[in-house]
Amino acid sequence: MYNLNKLLLAEIVILKPEAGVLLKSYGIDYTYKGNQTLEMAIGENEELLMQLKKELEIIFNITNKSAEEKLENASILEIINIIIAKHSHYNQVVYPTIFRHTQFLASKFNTRFPELIKIADLFAEIKKEQEVHMLHEEMFLFPKLKLSEKVVDGKTDKANLLDLIEAINEMKTEHKNVNQLVNEIKALTKNYHMPPDVSNNFLIPFMELEEFEKDLAKHIYIENNILVGKALALLK
Ligand SMILES: [Fe+2]
Ligand SMILES: [Fe+2]
Repeated sequence: MYNLNKLLLAEIVILKPEAGVLLKSYGIDYTYKGNQTLEMAIGENEELLMQLKKELEIIFNITNKSAEEKLENASILEIINIIIAKHSHYNQVVYPTIFRHTQFLASKFNTRFPELIKIADLFAEIKKEQEVHMLHEEMFLFPKLKLSEKVVDGKTDKANLLDLIEAINEMKTEHKNVNQLVNEIKALTKNYHMPPDVSNNFLIPFMELEEFEKDLAKHIYIENNILVGKALALLK
């Protein structure tokens, strides 16, 4: 288990690239202050330090149960911060990398494995659709979900959220569609098993695709169930 008190900012970002986006959103320049711990970089702002640690803990432990419980206890705003950091990581690293690798495989080995062309096309479609999907979430759905906390505080009227359910359903439909595309890739790669007698060129793209499937499922679960569940519970 990592100790966030001891890790340097550069180490935090290397271990979890999406944490870099989170740090930046709080105005912490990890490039300039890379050799400092969180505490050194933040100074005496105890409140900011606690807040950042809470969000980073979720990013670092997101796969184990206690982290899921932590996420259940986080506010809508905190969950959205974490999701946006993840989106940025998808946009900057995950999608461009897997896109490049699947295109390379298709161009180099399509004679022996024509299905690689379909796999590359499917991933290109996923990338394109998800870029729009994430932007939609950030521009339309998330601001509305944030408003649901304000309804409870009496700072805004429920009437401002009339189209929230429609936006949630749209998000869920898009999740189903992307899942369908991911499943097609899974079937074409025979559960990400490399064909026999192939070069190591297949190893990394297949591992990346498998990892992507698991990570996306987790991301979708957080959005569909934890985030939306919290907002709907508030509006009951
Ligand atoms: Fe998302
Ligand atoms: Fe989503």
